Amino acid sequence: MPHCETLIRHARVIDGTGAAPFVADVAISDGTIARVGPELAMTAERTIDGAGRCLAPGFIDVHTHDDTNVVRTPEMWPKLSQGVTTVIVGNCGISASPARLRAGALPVPLALLGGADAFTYPTFRAYVDAIARARPAVNVATLVGHTTLRNNHMTALDRAATADETDAMRAELRDALSLGALGLSSGLQYASAFAAPTEEVMALAEPLAEFGGLYTTHMRTEFAGILDAMDEAFRIGRHARVPVAVSHLKCAGPENWGRSAEVLRALEREGREHPVGCDAYPYTAGSSMLDLEQVTDRIEITITWSEPHPEVGGRSLKEIAGEWDVSLLDAARRLCPAGAIYHSMSEDDVRRILRHPATVIGSDGLPNDPKPHPRLWGTFPRVLGHYARDAGLFPLAVAVHKMTGLPARKFGLGDRGFVREGFAADLVLFDAATVRDVATFADPQRPAAGIHAVWVNGVLSSRDQVPTGARAGRFLSRGTIDHAAYRLAP
Ligand code: ZN
Ligand code: CU
Repeated sequence: MPHCETLIRHARVIDGTGAAPFVADVAISDGTIARVGPELAMTAERTIDGAGRCLAPGFIDVHTHDDTNVVRTPEMWPKLSQGVTTVIVGNCGISASPARLRAGALPVPLALLGGADAFTYPTFRAYVDAIARARPAVNVATLVGHTTLRNNHMTALDRAATADETDAMRAELRDALSLGALGLSSGLQYASAFAAPTEEVMALAEPLAEFGGLYTTHMRTEFAGILDAMDEAFRIGRHARVPVAVSHLKCAGPENWGRSAEVLRALEREGREHPVGCDAYPYTAGSSMLDLEQVTDRIEITITWSEPHPEVGGRSLKEIAGEWDVSLLDAARRLCPAGAIYHSMSEDDVRRILRHPATVIGSDGLPNDPKPHPRLWGTFPRVLGHYARDAGLFPLAVAVHKMTGLPARKFGLGDRGFVREGFAADLVLFDAATVRDVATFADPQRPAAGIHAVWVNGVLSSRDQVPTGARAGRFLSRGTIDHAAYRLAP
């Protein structure tokens, strides 16, 4: 009888394609899914009873800021505990590599990735090597950030790059792409990239097509001007002839609520001509650094950290301003640099965007915040439990598709994202009836419920929400992006 390392018996397999679940055995050997089928006639070193549970491909978190954490905290428990087996880093224009900092304050919002001492990857190669040495518990694929490149080659970020500076940035992007980077990300809303004209990003994006990369963007604005910002993103994608992934798509600010249908129609319209998609997280609040331009009394704003006033972490800006007897804006000024959670979205918009077939799941979790937005620990189980099961937003198999097979094809992650023979054995065994996010805004650092076992590259890495100590993740070099994965039904 054929032999394998691990045999998971009688699980309900949700294979990542969006198809209905089926009961089967899954055999794992040498980090790979060796067989999938009913009642496999095999012996195994280790057999796991999967009866009554769902077995899905490990979840892919397409939008993370885990760049330095995969090396500094390689256990990656906030992610592994959710069933995440791959993180994509380098989002929103900020990547930890290739980064060469100058003395002084970190350009906004690089501090999301850690303090200056966390930036120890002057070249992309140095980062790839660091991941190999650190052996994180999850796989890592990476984008290169436009803002990071600007900071490497420009002495002031409040202006457009010169032709020479753009050339230097492009050469550095090219080097990273040749070493397996997925593509380019931008964060045009942030002060350190806002002065970059569309043409600068277009010129920088030119090498992407030759390598088969993609362009992802935290757009120029998610407020009133969102359609223009989408148009800018699409122009860049068309010019570079590569797919565009709009990061954390949302209608931000009460003035903007209810516009998600219009925004999604714009995405669909472009999608008929050019591959475009988006990611989203399952919450009505966003989080980033505290931005004075976003300070308003129309929404609740919570301070997550503050360099000059660490004691206010977790408290509302309104409360702090009241106590200090100053305006919201003055309070915010005193708190900077700081982090914030903005309760800036409507539930209807969040649901409409999550449900859309163009949308994949990304947490946008901020692992260096002392009191982070709960999306860091809760995103994936919240989509499965709260939105798929409890709210009935979509079938469970569709939820899984949005966090496995679909992103794997869209981002070019090769043999990931499906329960299929020959594919990498990144797997999660969970209970469809009990899976849920436990992390809340008040108590955000809580592992999910209902995740029973997680395998990364065939290695059991967590069991009953206890990490096994295995660290089987690796750097994932860019595979082939499947343009057909961006196609929407007419
Ligand atoms: Zn962003
Ligand atoms: Cu982000």
